[in-house]
Amino acid sequence: MFKINENYLKLPGSYLFSTIGRKVKEFTLENPDKKIIRLGIGDVTLPLAPAVISALHNAVDEMANKDTFKGYPPELGYEFLRQAIADHDFKSRGVTIALDEIFISDGAKSDSGNIGEIFDVDNKIAVCDPVYPVYVDSNVMAGRTGEYLPDLGKWTNVIYMPCTKETNFAPELPKEEPDIIYLCFPNNPTGSTITKAELQKWVDYANKVGAVIIYDAAYEAYISEENVPHTIYECEGAKTCAIEIRSFSKNAGFTGTRLGFTVIPKELKSGDVMLNSLWARRHGTKFNGAPYIIQAAGASIYTEEGKRQTKEQIAYYMNNAKVIREGLSAAGYSVSGGVNAPYIWLKTPDSMTSWEFFDYLLKEANVVGTPGSGFGPSGEGYFRLTAFGTYENTLEAIERIKRL
Ligand SMILES: Cc1ncc(COP(=O)(O)O)c(C=O)c1O
Repeated sequence: MFKINENYLKLPGSYLFSTIGRKVKEFTLENPDKKIIRLGIGDVTLPLAPAVISALHNAVDEMANKDTFKGYPPELGYEFLRQAIADHDFKSRGVTIALDEIFISDGAKSDSGNIGEIFDVDNKIAVCDPVYPVYVDSNVMAGRTGEYLPDLGKWTNVIYMPCTKETNFAPELPKEEPDIIYLCFPNNPTGSTITKAELQKWVDYANKVGAVIIYDAAYEAYISEENVPHTIYECEGAKTCAIEIRSFSKNAGFTGTRLGFTVIPKELKSGDVMLNSLWARRHGTKFNGAPYIIQAAGASIYTEEGKRQTKEQIAYYMNNAKVIREGLSAAGYSVSGGVNAPYIWLKTPDSMTSWEFFDYLLKEANVVGTPGSGFGPSGEGYFRLTAFGTYENTLEAIERIKRL
């Protein structure tokens, strides 16, 4: 008789976005004349850049020709893409990453969810609170998190690192020693980030206690300030303690096209065992590669044209972020984020809960955002707006909120 992985039964329902969807649907049915503006979900809206489209067309044509057709891709990904990544994402920042330390994938969600497979179930994880839910849920599935305490919204065997106004939306080194530390900068959902000196403290700490840092840099392209690290490997000693995960979703609009990569330096070891070898084994066994046409499209963002065009897209979103940030500040809201990330994190007014503010904004301004409490208990009393809408809708949404 087969048995299921009962850890899945411990997962609380995917409450956040389904509840948002239901509430918006109900409101729309009752108020068909109202124009709703959605600044809730972290999905891009601009089409792929012309350089990417052109690379896709060329790659499709190659697939139509006997001489240039491609079958299974190389296990780690095409070398032309890994070389472009090594040169443009790392070498340009003074960091040397070897091509066999880069693993091309279909995105950062899969990599951040799957990476736990190479670690023993008895590792203790530490996460920021609020947090991108994949880090926690994938560890629940693996049986690493203990029991869920519904009243607290927490797992018994997870170290939570609160990121609130009091901590400047950055985590503090935990009192209890973790084995695996998940960090995401620039951060989803708070839009915050930390300086290179602050990240260096985490690297030093991880090396000291023998922890590994899973560093999610999916929003790296949105960094606008000078002293913010673009990769954790800018910090000294990071190669012996950190895995970095990247995505093409937010820097080049690949949310529906799917491409990402993970870097595991060969210096990162448990005893004599390189984590790089374990991930190579896992990748080779369970993943047959991102499609050639998508990898070719990914490489096009590193061309001069691709860089210019994707930069323009990011500037467009970050202009929206500025509109939201400045508009809400002028209206008296306490606002953070939106400088190095496409997310604006605001304190709900008048001690409203995150969900009360959601209902209020939907009803009175017909604007949809995301309640902070959906990302973790320390998100209660906060609210996330995203800069991924159109400029016109963003302007209108903020005008409406200002009029409340
Ligand atoms: C922090 C973070 N990591 C990873 C992802 C997922 O990236 P991908 O589209 O590459 O799977 C997201 C998407 O919103 C995210 O916010």
